[in-house]
Amino acid sequence: MNYRHSYHAGNFADVIKHLAEVAILAHLAKKDAPFAVIDSHAGRGSYDLASEEALKTSEAASGIQALDGLSGSPLLDSYMRLARGGDGQTYPGSPLIAARLLRPQDRLVAIEKHPEEVKALKETLSPWRKARVEEGDGYARLTALLPPAERRGLVLIDPPFEAPDEFESLGRAVRGALRRFATGIYLIWYPVKSDASARAMEGEILMDARKALRIEAMIDAPEGRLARAAVLVLNPPFGFVAAMKEALAKVAPQLKAKTHLAWLAGEE
Ligand SMILES: C[S@@+](CC[C@H](N)C(=O)[O-])C[C@H]1O[C@@H](n2cnc3c(N)ncnc32)[C@H](O)[C@@H]1O
Repeated sequence: MNYRHSYHAGNFADVIKHLAEVAILAHLAKKDAPFAVIDSHAGRGSYDLASEEALKTSEAASGIQALDGLSGSPLLDSYMRLARGGDGQTYPGSPLIAARLLRPQDRLVAIEKHPEEVKALKETLSPWRKARVEEGDGYARLTALLPPAERRGLVLIDPPFEAPDEFESLGRAVRGALRRFATGIYLIWYPVKSDASARAMEGEILMDARKALRIEAMIDAPEGRLARAAVLVLNPPFGFVAAMKEALAKVAPQLKAKTHLAWLAGEE
C-alpha cells in the first residue's frame, strides 16, 4: 500500500473524473428524493498542491492549474467553483466534492484503507454530519453497503492500481455490486496502460451492465507518467453526455488532451 494520491491530485485524469462526478451529483440533486454516495477508495479528501509530493510530479500544473480562469458551461462552472473556490492551493478529492454537494437528506460513505489517509479524511469531512468515513477494504465494503436504503445514488470506484490483479478485482467487484444495485450510477476510474487489460475488465463488467459509457483521455506525458486514463460510467443519467461534451470542449484544449466518448452498452 504505497500509493499516495497527493502525488497525482489535480492531474488531467482527476479533472475528467471529478467533472463526471459533479455532473452525476447535479443530476441526482434534481429530484428531492435522497441519494447516497459510496466512495470505495476515497483518499484523504483534500490535497495541498504546494506540498513536496505534489511539487515532485507537478501533475496539477498540466491539470487543474492549467484551467485557471476557464468558464463557459454550467458543469464546468460548478466544478471550477469546487476545485478552485478556496485558496487556489488546495484541491478537493472525490469525497470532499461529494460532501460539498450533499443536501440535508443525502449521505456519503467514504471508504479508505490507508490509516494516515483515513485520519486526514476524517478531519476533512468532520464539518459534514452526513458524511461517514470507514476504514477498510473498499471492495469488501461495497457488498455490505449495497443496495443503499435510498435506492438511488452514485458508487465511485477509484482504486490505486498497485496490485497486478487490480483489473480482475475491479471487474469482479463491479459485477457483484451491479447484482445488488443494478439501477445505481457507477463511476469507475482506471489507467489505460495496456489496451488488453482495460478492455478485458470492461468486457467483464459489460456482462452485467445495461448502459455503459466510456470517456477516455490522452495526453503527451513524460516517460513513466500516466498518459492515458478512462472513466466508465454505468447508467449515466440523461443529459450527462451533453454536459460532459460541453465542458470537455473547453477543458481538453487547456489540458492538451484528446478525449473520446463511446457507448459500450446501450445509449441515452
Ligand atoms: C486514486 S486514490 C483515490 C482518489 C480519490 N478517489 C479522489 O478522486 O480524490 C486511491 C486510494 O485508495 C486507497 N486504497 C488502496 N487500497 C484500498 C482498498 N482496498 N480499499 C479502500 N481504499 C484503498 C489508497 O490509499 C488511495 O488513497
